[in-house]
Amino acid sequence: MFGFLGNKSGSLVGLDIGSSSVKLVALSKSGSGYTLEAYAVVSLPPTAVIDGNIQDVGEVAETIEKAVKVAGGKMSAAIAAVPASAVITKRIEMSNAFTEFELEDQIKVEADQFIPYPLDEVALDFEVIGPVKNNENLDKVLLVACRKTDVEQREDAISNAGLQCSIVDVDTYAVERAFPLTSPEQRDETDLVGVVDIGAATLTLNVFKGTEIVYSREQAFGGNDLTNTIHQQYGMSIEEVEQSLRLNDLSSEIQDMVVLPFRGTVAQQVSRSLQFFYSSGAHNELSALYLSGGTATIDGLADQLAEELGINADMANPFSKMSVNSRVNRSRLDRDAPSLVKACGLAMRGFEG
Ligand SMILES: Nc1ncnc2c1ncn2[C@@H]1O[C@H](COP(=O)(O)OP(=O)(O)OP(=O)(O)O)[C@@H](O)[C@H]1O
Ligand SMILES: [Mg+2]
Repeated sequence: MFGFLGNKSGSLVGLDIGSSSVKLVALSKSGSGYTLEAYAVVSLPPTAVIDGNIQDVGEVAETIEKAVKVAGGKMSAAIAAVPASAVITKRIEMSNAFTEFELEDQIKVEADQFIPYPLDEVALDFEVIGPVKNNENLDKVLLVACRKTDVEQREDAISNAGLQCSIVDVDTYAVERAFPLTSPEQRDETDLVGVVDIGAATLTLNVFKGTEIVYSREQAFGGNDLTNTIHQQYGMSIEEVEQSLRLNDLSSEIQDMVVLPFRGTVAQQVSRSLQFFYSSGAHNELSALYLSGGTATIDGLADQLAEELGINADMANPFSKMSVNSRVNRSRLDRDAPSLVKACGLAMRGFEG
């Protein structure tokens, strides 16, 4: 390991730096069970993070600091993620006779051939997945690369907030890790389950077969459209709109005139992302669809999707079977849980070797 994906274990907080807010999750683990010790969701200024890129490290650092205060614990280290869209991955086969040192050298040679940036601008990591079938001399190796700046901005924001950034992961790996918690039902290995995340700026569909993502697609759509419409039509500040959406205390006029029609638009966009999936190859129907992200918490969205698409749709709640520290406000948590999937998967990374 070169170490940008890190290799630490212990209790670290997961930090999801989204385009509208920072989400923090702190877990503890005993045996095979996790406990949610604390969490926080703190809004970011609208221009701090755009399209997954940190534009203002100072503003992000301040928001992380607030999140640590809200969560109220003594936290020293964190795990963050770069978006999958910023990452290039490649599976290669390598001789298993290499020493770790030789392997690193060889990987640089390989990486140079498929990465469109000079290697000194690239953060590179790899994982040996296991032996190649029918060839005892080769290992399957997963190469992961992204621009150094994408990693460094996150590390800087976190260290300016007074925490150590122990690991920078890839966000889809976090979603994959949290998946067994968000989809607790036992299913056949061949069942396909979708998890659609609808954030402020991006809608992402990940389709799982077993515990692995077999399809992933992002589109530029999210709750920002709703927030901006309410801001423009009703003269509320962006911050007020965001706050009211989260607390669910918008006037019934705004609910009926804006939020309800927007729910229809969200349903259309989800349906569109499913069409892309079905047209991408010979896939079976999804046996279930879980909704995550703040925009997915619009009241009644899961029911609407279930009805319109004839699909078994539900909210993703990674904490539904988890023990929860009594200091955590349960009813707040039930509303916030679908937005915390990524942060939860990042926190879980802290318990891996
Ligand atoms: N009850 C609600 N009804 C409608 N929209 C909501 C509600 N609660 C939150 N939102 C919207 O959810 C969005 C925030 O979701 P989330 O925290 O998942 O986004 P993000 O992770 O910051 O963004 P992205 O993933 O796109 O980078 C905001 O646009 C907010 O207005
Ligand atoms: Mg998000």
